[in-house]
Amino acid sequence: MQRAQLVEEIKVLLDLVERNTTTLADSVMEIDVSEYTDAALFEREKIELFRDYPQFVGPSCIVPAAGDYFAFDDTGIPILIVRRDDGGLNAFVNICSHRGAPLNESTHGQARKGRMFSCPYHGWSYDLEGQLIGVPFGKEGFEGIDRSALGLRKLDVQEKYGMIFVMPNPARTFDIDEVLGGLQERLEGFGFDSHYYLGAKKVFTDFSWKLNMDTFHEYYHFEFLHPESIAQMAYSNIANYRQYGRNHSMGSPALSINELRGLPEDQWQPREHSSYVNYIFPNTVIFVVADHFQTWRVYPITPQRSVVYHSMFLPHEPHDENERQEYEAYFQMINDVAVAEDYSLVDKVHRGLQSGIDRKVLIGRNEPGVQNMHRQLHEVLGL
Ligand code: FES
Ligand SMILES: [Fe+2]
Repeated sequence: MQRAQLVEEIKVLLDLVERNTTTLADSVMEIDVSEYTDAALFEREKIELFRDYPQFVGPSCIVPAAGDYFAFDDTGIPILIVRRDDGGLNAFVNICSHRGAPLNESTHGQARKGRMFSCPYHGWSYDLEGQLIGVPFGKEGFEGIDRSALGLRKLDVQEKYGMIFVMPNPARTFDIDEVLGGLQERLEGFGFDSHYYLGAKKVFTDFSWKLNMDTFHEYYHFEFLHPESIAQMAYSNIANYRQYGRNHSMGSPALSINELRGLPEDQWQPREHSSYVNYIFPNTVIFVVADHFQTWRVYPITPQRSVVYHSMFLPHEPHDENERQEYEAYFQMINDVAVAEDYSLVDKVHRGLQSGIDRKVLIGRNEPGVQNMHRQLHEVLGL
């Protein structure tokens, strides 16, 4: 988002603060408890939302240089993404053509010598185009195989506005602009291609991926669940909601926003007084705050278990070890709040939903983000 847009957003937020209100949905929404517990629905979600639907992978800066790769295996199809020499990207099904091992040595890093992947199982190697280029003991052990047909299977990967998306199902393609639905207006200009990737924290949670996502879409709970942490910095229950295709964006005022009243607009530093939750359907939140941003990607494991990757992106690489440690401590603190406060509460919500008590979950007019995620789920899954 460019400065003019950020300034406009501040004006909207100042008005919401003055009136002590938030963007409201048209009506209260009811969700059947079974949407969180039904095993058959869960199986459909895994296919229709995670295998056959374009997935946000990360900002471009997860693979800044030629030969950099990023791998993940949470959509049902193991995926390997690599930056080519010409600056473009390739994505592959991360399954070795020999006996099926994944080719990555860690979750992200540099391909061997910047130009090849070597399978950790028996050493078959592939170039950055996925061509099979080496088979140890191949002459005798694999006489007669057609190497040209044994390259890695390609996936549709697209990069635009500093973001990378991939389609896990090799038989499908997608259009990145259609997926973003205009959300790029809000995300362009934050420099997603030039930040520094500090790392990711992987947290397993014993509840549905949807309960996990629900925690990110409203500010209603701040003063009750986070009185000593987030509520000391940001307003509860005040946010400017905007819809972009299946996605949404919510601007939220820091308590300090009132300092801007009476200050000439050209002196405003909008990002010091507001933050932005950007939701990309179905499972990603990009949280833009102060001088940096974070991503949260949530994946289903079972109807009762999910995993979240919380990643931190800094405006620049830390200058020294001290600065790195400060950022690491901050990253840990944010992650701890989510785990200790949000997730430990959601553990109990999960127990209630699993209790078999027949009831509806209510989503208020002041929770338009939660409503949107479930509305989109209903549309895509035909519920
Ligand atoms: S599985 Fe990759 S070389 Fe054997
Ligand atoms: Fe929270």
